Amino acid sequence: MSLLKNGFVDIHHLSTEDMLEILKFAGRLKDALERRDVPAYQLAAGRDALVAQLFYESSTRTRASFEIAALRLGCRVTGFGSTEGSSVSKGESLSHTIDMFDAYACDAIVLRHPLDGAALWASERTKVPVFNAGDGKRQHPTQTILDLFTILERHGRLDNLTVVFSGDLKYGRTTHTLALALSQFPGNTFHFCAPSVLAMPRAITQLVRGRGVTVLESENMAEGLERADIFYQTRIQRERMPDQNEFEKAKKSGAFTLAMMERTKPMFGLMHPLPIDKRLPGILPELDAHPKSLYKRQAGNGVPTRMAQLALAMGLAELPVSGRPVHQAVEPGDDFVSRLEITPKPPREGVSIRPIRDRGVVIDHLRPHSESLLAMLLRVKERKDVYRAGTVRSVSRPDHVKGILMIEDRVLTPAELRLVASVSPGARVNRIEDARVVEKLALSLPAVVSGLDHVMCPNTGCITRPEHQEHVPCRFEKLDEGTLRCGYCDHILEASELFGHLY
Ligand code: CP
Repeated sequence: MSLLKNGFVDIHHLSTEDMLEILKFAGRLKDALERRDVPAYQLAAGRDALVAQLFYESSTRTRASFEIAALRLGCRVTGFGSTEGSSVSKGESLSHTIDMFDAYACDAIVLRHPLDGAALWASERTKVPVFNAGDGKRQHPTQTILDLFTILERHGRLDNLTVVFSGDLKYGRTTHTLALALSQFPGNTFHFCAPSVLAMPRAITQLVRGRGVTVLESENMAEGLERADIFYQTRIQRERMPDQNEFEKAKKSGAFTLAMMERTKPMFGLMHPLPIDKRLPGILPELDAHPKSLYKRQAGNGVPTRMAQLALAMGLAELPVSGRPVHQAVEPGDDFVSRLEITPKPPREGVSIRPIRDRGVVIDHLRPHSESLLAMLLRVKERKDVYRAGTVRSVSRPDHVKGILMIEDRVLTPAELRLVASVSPGARVNRIEDARVVEKLALSLPAVVSGLDHVMCPNTGCITRPEHQEHVPCRFEKLDEGTLRCGYCDHILEASELFGHLY
């Protein structure tokens, strides 16, 4: 398998070795560009390769540098730079739009989209390699490759660095992706510096800490500046904020100044993914020509790094996959069911719920008050099942309150068992025949929760949310017995939130 053969939608699809290989290849292309050695970089010459750029959000750098990268390789470029003037404005879904560029046999698709997880969905819809040119507030992985390239040029390494991330860390996809990438290299220290309304999402902070990164958090961007190797400033993205109040608080984050620059180490580098908002600059213009200001060079590195990525995806160059990516797709299995030994018990005295006399199913140890939801999801009314449901106090353990659902004359299918396990991990399912328990199952949270109606990701920016009408089915991966991650937007949720909107 060659690197980036399927495009590049998520930084976790690359190992550190893979990232370093791509950076080395980009370095060779940058040298060839600087020498104007056309045969060395025009890798698509005579290949009739076509790159489609689908930009649902505005862009200067990503779109232009991808286009220049494609042209320098000798590809042609098609697509749209804004939804106005395209049939997206007539209500066409992302899936149908992707289908078109698949039907036109494009060789690569570059997608920028406002919804989290859009690029992953697009890559699942088509065999054409898809590049994530920014999906909502989630990731911007091709930006991260150029950021890593710039850091490597400056420091000659990607480990043992102190990096300050500043500005809009809440909605800032560039900071999310760069932090995730750098956290894979040893010995790095991150200083997340933002007003509390724009703090780095907890999911990312926890994840990078879990990988051994030392994380400091503060609201003061000048704190610890003397120790910083890189300062990564970002724009306050007012367009992503749901209300003006948030912007008013966010505005206080301030700008990087010449006085601050004077306190930094000799090899310090000031970076910014750009654009800088001239109405609320995160870096003052007086620093544009400063030798420690890397942001112009950083943006320029977008061309060779994106050339390298396009060339790999389109088979114009090959590099072997050299390491194990952090995320690997998890397949649904029946790992969530375990069979328990049946211990015959005499009928209990003083139990107020009538037991199943003949055959049926008793679903016990449900999360309190989840039994009515489960009865609805198992369609007991539509099926005219005879059932009893309640949240009760355990007879044997009076301190324990649990939900219980008993359905007469019913056997649960494997899909229904998966549903019960997703609604209430920890449930027990007893199958009753002739008034005796003939099978006892303990359910835990499935490794993958997918293919279920009614589940919903709590992140309103997720491509799977019904209000976006993209008809993308939800998929969640288990992190531990109580938490999951959305397979599209990476939002981390409690298992109880899966059906939270239905309670
Ligand atoms: N860095 C970046 O994504 O810039 P654009 O929004 O101009 O593409």
